Amino acid sequence: MKFEVISTNLEDIKADYLIIQFFEGAEVPEVVLTLPESIKEEIASPIRAGCFKAKLGQVLLVYPKSAGPVRCFLLLGLGSKQDFSLESLRQAHGYAALKVKEIGSKDMAVPIPNIPPYTASEITTSVVEAISLAFYKFNRYKSKAEDGKYPELIRLVVGSNTKNACDAAAREAAIVSEAVKLARDIANMPSNDIPPKRMAEIATEVGMASGFSTKVFDMEILERMGMRGIVSVGKGSSNPPVLIVMRYDGGGDTYAVVGKGVVFDSGGISIKPSEKMEEMKYDKSGAATVIALMKAVAELKLPVRLIGIVPAVENLPNGNALKPGDIIKFRNGKTAEIISTDAEGRLILADALAYASEMKPKAIIDLATLTGACVIALGTHASGLFSNNEELADKLIKAGERTGERLWRLPLWKEYFEQIKSDVADMKNVGGRPAGAITAAAFLMNFVDSNIPWAHIDIAGTAWTQESSPEKSYIPRGATGIGVRLLVEFLKSEIKRG
Ligand code: BES
Ligand code: ZN
Ligand code: ZN
Repeated sequence: MKFEVISTNLEDIKADYLIIQFFEGAEVPEVVLTLPESIKEEIASPIRAGCFKAKLGQVLLVYPKSAGPVRCFLLLGLGSKQDFSLESLRQAHGYAALKVKEIGSKDMAVPIPNIPPYTASEITTSVVEAISLAFYKFNRYKSKAEDGKYPELIRLVVGSNTKNACDAAAREAAIVSEAVKLARDIANMPSNDIPPKRMAEIATEVGMASGFSTKVFDMEILERMGMRGIVSVGKGSSNPPVLIVMRYDGGGDTYAVVGKGVVFDSGGISIKPSEKMEEMKYDKSGAATVIALMKAVAELKLPVRLIGIVPAVENLPNGNALKPGDIIKFRNGKTAEIISTDAEGRLILADALAYASEMKPKAIIDLATLTGACVIALGTHASGLFSNNEELADKLIKAGERTGERLWRLPLWKEYFEQIKSDVADMKNVGGRPAGAITAAAFLMNFVDSNIPWAHIDIAGTAWTQESSPEKSYIPRGATGIGVRLLVEFLKSEIKRG
């Protein structure tokens, strides 16, 4: 799939599909006026007849009677103008893409509408991301690929005065979308095909192709580095744990991102009930996002230094596994009593965050499918945000509003730290059921240098969509790749600020 920005009159466009966007209740958009009289009438008549009301995501196909350069006009509803946002724009264009996918097409053309106060580049970015991501399908394990009739070429039609800006926006959005798809691929992969070692190989391969370096620490080195959190969780599986450290150097400030990479979470000795246990292959979603973010940032050549840290483990019970009651010591010297081996994410992130702190970055952000409690608190409509720094939290929330990846901040008051006090160690890894998402974040905060702005993003509710949930247009069922666009947006805003 290729995106191309052109600036031509609509009547000169030759395509299988030409999208025409409408607002609810508004008259025929300006672009239509440039089309030949007969086609104008064919487009206007279903609107007059009340068949097309331009509700958000509504699609109506109009095949002109006489053959012309456009085989089909795809009328697309943007919903009401008052409720317009980049997210509604993405949703609408995702639905247009799904329609095209259903029928199959070689190429399509999409005019970039002028919708102040948004700039043409912002509109372009959202349109490209929505279309590209809506066409995603995890096909790797199908012996016959299902629906491969994706358009090879998607032309974006822009005004000549915005051509250069839209060109750059489309190029960048295509890079970011490919990265999101990589995140989805990694998270969707079954654990039998992506043990920790394989995840490290994937990171290495992606780094070589995209321009970042990768170092992999194996179990023996981890022992020597005092990373008993990662070792203890990983030793219950015959697929040993690794720590993956990726570095991209574009000059400028250093940021560290840490992703939970549990390739499968059975719960370990505190084993989970078997219902829906298959979903625990998604427990590596934070890691998938971090690897994909490295790819995006390197390919965009952003002027930052980015360190990606992924502790990768498989949480299984065997005769060597971590047990409740065990006490372990982490990289920063602190100790924890294990109450549940199913609260494993915080144990591997503890070492990774301590390690990240040693590099003294300007900020540390971690992403993790950390707690079921976060899903109870926020459902699937927002990721949980926890931070020791107001400014960082605000910047991330703003970035999420722009990319449609909402964050909702929860507090880290000192009372929550009381909940995870232990009689026999510095802390325990579970603080009971109340505020489970917060006590998990409080546990993590013990491993971050308090002078470094840190944010923890709990993506347990947003990293994948379930079998039962309806397909959102540009987020098909399965792994969502959450956080890639969010953190690209955040880093870009940091660069602008200078
Ligand atoms: N990976 C899970 C969290 C999870 C559960 C994410 C369901 C998405 C959906 C995590 O390792 C875990 O098992 N957490 C426990 C913690 C508990 C033992 C304190 C949980 O949330 O139940
Ligand atoms: Zn668990
Ligand atoms: Zn887990």
